[in-house]
Amino acid sequence: MQKIGVLTSGGDAPGLNACIRAVVRAGHYHGLEVVGIKRGFKGLIEREFEPLTPRDVSLIINRGGTVLLSAREPRFKEHEFRKKAAENIRKEGIDCLFVIGGNGSFQGANLLTKEFGIPVIGIPKTIDNDTYGTEYTIGFDTAVNNAVDAIDKIRDTSMSHERVFVVEVMGRDSGFIALAASIATGADVALIPEYPFPMHVIVDTVVDALKRGKRFSIVVVAEGVASAREIAGILDEKLKPFDFGGVRYSVLGYIQRGGSPTAYDRIIASRFGVFAVEQFVNGKTDIMVALENGKVVAKPLEISFGRIKKPDLTDFELNNILTI
Ligand code: F6P
Repeated sequence: MQKIGVLTSGGDAPGLNACIRAVVRAGHYHGLEVVGIKRGFKGLIEREFEPLTPRDVSLIINRGGTVLLSAREPRFKEHEFRKKAAENIRKEGIDCLFVIGGNGSFQGANLLTKEFGIPVIGIPKTIDNDTYGTEYTIGFDTAVNNAVDAIDKIRDTSMSHERVFVVEVMGRDSGFIALAASIATGADVALIPEYPFPMHVIVDTVVDALKRGKRFSIVVVAEGVASAREIAGILDEKLKPFDFGGVRYSVLGYIQRGGSPTAYDRIIASRFGVFAVEQFVNGKTDIMVALENGKVVAKPLEISFGRIKKPDLTDFELNNILTI
């Protein structure tokens, strides 16, 4: 009987459990043994393996976080520890390693293939949605919905007190969450690293809005641009001559990464997981699963390395049009 191993690596994202469930159940459906590896690459080095049956993954499709636990493992950058991981994979008799992770984890997985011939399949997850080669990564929809929920609440205060609010969202170096949350909440400005505005344009936008009778504004800033505190400080200074309720800021932080996954994340995670197992069954490894034109496809794992995925310029322009 063939055996597959599955791990989650890097920052957690809602939908990881739905994906683990899909890999485990599709694996058993195809007559494979499935082993879960705890704490990502750390568990590979320390041999934290446990068999997973279809019943072991009951009641997790709706849960945030990851039942396999996750970690960022710096030791995996060292050849010596990758060798140890490869030895452990061999000793366990794992025929293919399924890595549910982001760019960094895919690079680690790729080294296992290149250096030691371990077959791997990558399944993309990150709330940031910044993995090149796929339109979508597990967790993004839930993170955006979490941000939208929070900004809708902030808007109540913004409106009632006629304030300008600067809201900082996650995304590391990318602006996918910021742009999507901005469009969905009708924010006045989306500050994202991919299409930067000079500060004076941001100030002018808020000033123009005030002059046009908009008594409150929301500025969404991606953490990769600047801190909300910094932007709020500048706006506060520049907006002093105007009669309004003042500037406040809010950092949404880790609430974006937690909670029950949306239906979309559960469905995509299930599709990705089942498709990944089918690839292995059909003899295809060293690939990543991707969403392309709405369809789940396989791509070379290396496609995601060293390339930058940008949000759609049309969406960015749309956001600017709608803030009139
Ligand atoms: O990649 C997901 C993410 O939440 C980013 O948006 C954020 O910059 C980063 O992880 C935070 O990482 P950590 O969990 O290590 O604090």
